[in-house]
Amino acid sequence: MTHTPSSKTALITGASSGIGAVYADRLAQRGYNLILVARRADRLEALCAQLSKAHGIQAEAVAADLTNDQDVARIEALLATRADVQVLVNNAGIARLAPAAQTSASDAQTQIALNITALTRLTQAAVPAFVAKKQGLIINIASVLAVHSMAISAIYSGTKAYVLQYTRGLQQELAETGVQVQLVLPASTATELWDLSGVPLAALNKDTLMTTEHMVDAALAGLDQGETITWPSVADASLWDKYDAARAELFANTQAGKPAPRYQIA
Ligand SMILES: NC(=O)c1ccc[n+]([C@@H]2O[C@H](COP(=O)([O-])OP(=O)(O)OC[C@H]3O[C@@H](n4cnc5c(N)ncnc54)[C@H](OP(=O)(O)O)[C@@H]3O)[C@@H](O)[C@H]2O)c1
Repeated sequence: MTHTPSSKTALITGASSGIGAVYADRLAQRGYNLILVARRADRLEALCAQLSKAHGIQAEAVAADLTNDQDVARIEALLATRADVQVLVNNAGIARLAPAAQTSASDAQTQIALNITALTRLTQAAVPAFVAKKQGLIINIASVLAVHSMAISAIYSGTKAYVLQYTRGLQQELAETGVQVQLVLPASTATELWDLSGVPLAALNKDTLMTTEHMVDAALAGLDQGETITWPSVADASLWDKYDAARAELFANTQAGKPAPRYQIA
């Protein structure tokens, strides 16, 4: 246990289960007080009691439905006014894995509201306070599906591609401010997300599945190594460098100012 009493606080969304609950434990171990946000207040309260006892920190449960405008506004206000908040982990997310044509408007909307809108609004609320203090850390949880779409993941992949691009732009914007922004792209991780998604956890190939503890510890190791983009399951880190270099080359080639020759009709 590495706790030293302090007034630094981490706000973690989606902390009532899975990846978010492990972030809560690991940040408590690092001496952070916690504000844990999700809908299931009973789970949050149990985790707060357990972590404050184990690590001697203060932990607060804040029940909120982050697809609800007024609930998001409450957390925005908290981020804007609580000077002790130094870390925001935007982790709450859901997947509804099904062909887009068979996805109800409400399932599509809920994924967008939670994975995109809430993450954006909470980040925007935290940034001015962090910039004013010239410090702070935002961890945005995307997914490997940010760079990969399947016939059952058009909407979910789209939401995570947003998290990727939003976070990368923000990293450039905040580069000189003292505020750190880490993008984490987990692959399949054993959580409740799967059974809720329509693809049961039991149907996944166990060899492709990570534990939540391994995922979060790898992401925090990446953070400690100064990474801004962390692929916890990717052994060959040069793969991302090559991908990103190809992306940059493609973008540079879009700046031609005229149609490509293959589109010029003679
Ligand atoms: N598991 C994977 O394979 C995997 C892979 C890549 C990325 N991810 C990402 O990792 C993040 C965490 O997911 P997980 O795998 O740990 O799944 P999880 O165990 O199902 O956790 C999701 C968390 O989000 C909260 N949440 C869901 N709807 C909410 C709402 N309307 N308002 C507030 N909180 C809400 C849930 O709490 P309540 O139900 O109590 O509200 C829960 O705490 C997500 O962003 C997910 O997309 C997961």
